Amino acid sequence: MKKQWWKESVVYQVYPRSFNDSNGDGIGDIKGITEKLDYLKNLGIDVIWLSPVYKSPNDDNGYDISNYKDIMDEFGSMADWEELLAEIHNRDMKLIMDLVVNHSSDEHAWFAESRKSKDNPYRDYYIWRPGKDGREPNNWESTFSGSAWQYDEATDEYFLHVFSKKQPDLNWENEKLRREVYDMMNWWLDKGIDGFRMDVINFISKEEGLPDAPNPEGNKYVGGGQYYINGPKIHDYLQEMHQEVLSKRDILTVGEMPGASVEDAKLYTDPNREELNMVFTFEHMDLDSGPGGKWNFKHLRLRDLKENITKWQKGLHSIGWNSLYLNNHDQPRMVSRFGDDKTYRIESAKMLGTFLHMLQGTPYVYQGEEIGMTNIRFDSIDDYRDIEILNMYKEKVVEGNEPHDKVMESIYVKGRDNARTPMQWDESENAGFTTGTPWIEVNPNYREINAEQAVKDNNSIYHYYRKLIQLRKENPIIVYGDYTLLDEENEKVYSYLRSYNNQRLLVVTNFSAEELDYKVPAEFSDGELLIGNYLDVDRTVESTIQLRPYEARVYIG
Ligand code: NOJ
Repeated sequence: MKKQWWKESVVYQVYPRSFNDSNGDGIGDIKGITEKLDYLKNLGIDVIWLSPVYKSPNDDNGYDISNYKDIMDEFGSMADWEELLAEIHNRDMKLIMDLVVNHSSDEHAWFAESRKSKDNPYRDYYIWRPGKDGREPNNWESTFSGSAWQYDEATDEYFLHVFSKKQPDLNWENEKLRREVYDMMNWWLDKGIDGFRMDVINFISKEEGLPDAPNPEGNKYVGGGQYYINGPKIHDYLQEMHQEVLSKRDILTVGEMPGASVEDAKLYTDPNREELNMVFTFEHMDLDSGPGGKWNFKHLRLRDLKENITKWQKGLHSIGWNSLYLNNHDQPRMVSRFGDDKTYRIESAKMLGTFLHMLQGTPYVYQGEEIGMTNIRFDSIDDYRDIEILNMYKEKVVEGNEPHDKVMESIYVKGRDNARTPMQWDESENAGFTTGTPWIEVNPNYREINAEQAVKDNNSIYHYYRKLIQLRKENPIIVYGDYTLLDEENEKVYSYLRSYNNQRLLVVTNFSAEELDYKVPAEFSDGELLIGNYLDVDRTVESTIQLRPYEARVYIG
């Protein structure tokens, strides 16, 4: 397997709006990030992934870009961004930027032109169609509720928006548009960035004819994803992008890919095919969704997680590369979701970190994960800010007839704002995030859960993550070793082996609050403890070990 810096790195995601506010306007900003670089360096982070900081009207917190080559006023200036990049590089870290090119904002200059007339030179930068039988061109539903089409009076046609109606989809069929995107990517790379995280990049190729989706239940609108997820020309586009942009530099590329299977991921990440380094799969994030999708919660079965992770670990081994994550700005907090955010918050956060960081792939840490931040429960829908939550609530409760309480419960469990409450820096007002009024309320638990306290306490989740990251630097087996699942049937303990050259690693993680006996495989009898989340553990291995609630141990032998 080829050694690469991005396989050996740990990435930290910054969601700028919620990270650190330097000027008291209640919104995180770029100078605020620069102020905290030593904190990240001290954690051992190699790469920072910055969620969008481009000009944007913020319909979807920056994932709706109105100028790809400029910085959002609320976040600062290009000079601030250049300083951030320089300071990141001074500390020997790298920066990857978010690339959002499935869609732009409807306030982008291209779209302003495009909607003017049918023969405008920018018309074909977007996807326009006439209505059909007095309604939308097809029955696709937007990811953020309602139709995926918006009528525009000026030309009496509809434009496609898979996300909000302020996020019109770009038309990748148009070569001129593709050239503009590649030029823009090269422009950022020339400024010195180290790669891209590519937003829903497997949505950019749409099926010819944009057919209606099957609709057996006769709903007003239905998914439609099968006609744009991993679409017919996706590999052509990515290979072209590789040739025009990516191949010229030694960078990190990760494609966000809802609906990509491991078979798809092999194609996307096999270096011989010259597309991307790795993808973000959604499969493990969907294991606690019921048949009704994301808002239809069901408890995670550990065996489902084992089956899924094992499929990806084995599937990509020596072909492509995995990204490893349990959190990001779109997902609830992992400790509330897969651990216990009350009695065993610290233990379960460390256990989940161990489980993830010992797998093969590049780990991603989402801001606040390293201090065990938890989900939020706001009493009023008015305290929520996320367009996905607000549109869904409006559709189901205000316009539909679902009970308020039931829908709020689903928001508590799955809503994206769980991840977007401000980073908890210290116990001062507003968690030290801002001296002003935060754009979204701070989680009231910041007096107990905050970075200042975590950095001071050697036994904190923060220091445990530091150690996990440091171990990766010292033990190539963590990066390059292969993976074997153990004890597949066990409903409570997830254990696996890694092996590399003549070394082996045994990872044992208790996903429950129960005390359990675990039989260590015989060949590990002379192993030694590498890391564990309880302090009083012997370094040597016994044939049966007693696991405590959410205990994690890693042995090397
Ligand atoms: C995925 C991003 O992570 C999410 O935050 C955003 O809403 C959609 N793509 C649309 O850009």
